Amino acid sequence: MSPVVVEVALAERSYPIHIGCGLLADAARWRPAVGGRHVLVVSNDTVAPLYLERVTGGLEGCICATLVLADGEQYKTLDSAARVFAALAALGANRDATVIALGGGVIGDLAGFAAACWMRGIAFVQMPTTLLAMVDSSVGGKTGVNLPAGKNLVGAFHQPHAVVIDTGTLSTLPSREYSAGLAEVVKYGAIGDRGFFAWLEARADALAARDDGVLAEAIATSCRHKAGVVARDEREHGERALLNFGHTFGHAIEAEAGYGALLHGEAVAIGMVLAARLSARLGRAAAADGERLARLLARFGLPVDLPQGFSAERLLARMQLDKKNLSGRLRLILWSGLGAAELVDGVEADAIGSLLVEAGSRERA
Ligand code: NAD
Ligand code: GLY
Repeated sequence: MSPVVVEVALAERSYPIHIGCGLLADAARWRPAVGGRHVLVVSNDTVAPLYLERVTGGLEGCICATLVLADGEQYKTLDSAARVFAALAALGANRDATVIALGGGVIGDLAGFAAACWMRGIAFVQMPTTLLAMVDSSVGGKTGVNLPAGKNLVGAFHQPHAVVIDTGTLSTLPSREYSAGLAEVVKYGAIGDRGFFAWLEARADALAARDDGVLAEAIATSCRHKAGVVARDEREHGERALLNFGHTFGHAIEAEAGYGALLHGEAVAIGMVLAARLSARLGRAAAADGERLARLLARFGLPVDLPQGFSAERLLARMQLDKKNLSGRLRLILWSGLGAAELVDGVEADAIGSLLVEAGSRERA
């Protein structure tokens, strides 16, 4: 399949998402996004040995430096951002410098945040190498780092100058990480595109087998959805919140499990199924749609039921702390069926609590 370009059309500045196999080594495609002479490539010690040379090989003529951080969410910190600043200072980077983020969402969020801060904002290019980063975190300009007090508490909206998705890099991605990314792909069908959902159902085996053509098409469709939402609601005043379908349940499950026990996409898969079941229980959607969603996620090897031992009370307490809630009223992304997500205000805590109690016993039954 020849490379595809999806445009993120923003009022201030638009940018391309390039999607295709082998694009990291195809510098002619992404070099136009690298403005000045100074370039810092940020990666981690898992991804760099695999792919860094392909990127630096395309930077001839630039004054280039690389920064390879340790791998892991625990390094998405202000300390790591300070290391990026130190590398930019050592490089002599001016306002026309470019930061390239090569890696998954951790590197993309961190390097993007550092680019947003350096001299009040310099260019950056996202080169995502996980499926999750390709279809979600690299597009849309949310950047940030974690604090001991919580995830992503410090950040900035800072749009990249280009996103370069080399689908070939997915060949080395561990299978749990790959499945976790598929949860976000399924989400786009679930929240806004029944046709895409049916397309995914029809090609689930090819996707599970990482067929490059099918995968590139699934990524392109996902990116088109994300680009559309971001163009209509860049700063999340409305529609962009729908991208959090399943995430309020998911974040609570992820935190309750202990960070690292469940991958984000795994927790979101369980969360989307719970959101669909809650929607059915509240009479907003057909229960059959939720079961169809659970079947597709399970075909991708994702969990769809609450693992044993979760306390409904503690999960609910975590959900009540969610950023989307206003004046103590629970706000959740629910749906009226496949392809139709909506933000619902004032969801009764009792309804969520009894769903969670039942979800726990469902798994144990
Ligand atoms: P990650 O960046 O930790 O990558 C997962 C693992 O895969 C890591 O060990 C990484 O080194 C490894 N890896 C990456 N690419 C590889 C490859 N091609 N081959 C082999 N191994 C590879 O995790 P992630 O799921 O990509 O991202 C999660 C992060 O993204 C979280 O910090 C989350 O907060 C953030 N996020 C941000 C947004 C946003 O809009 N900015 C959206 C969703 C998630
Ligand atoms: N990942 C959610 C967003 O970009 O808004």
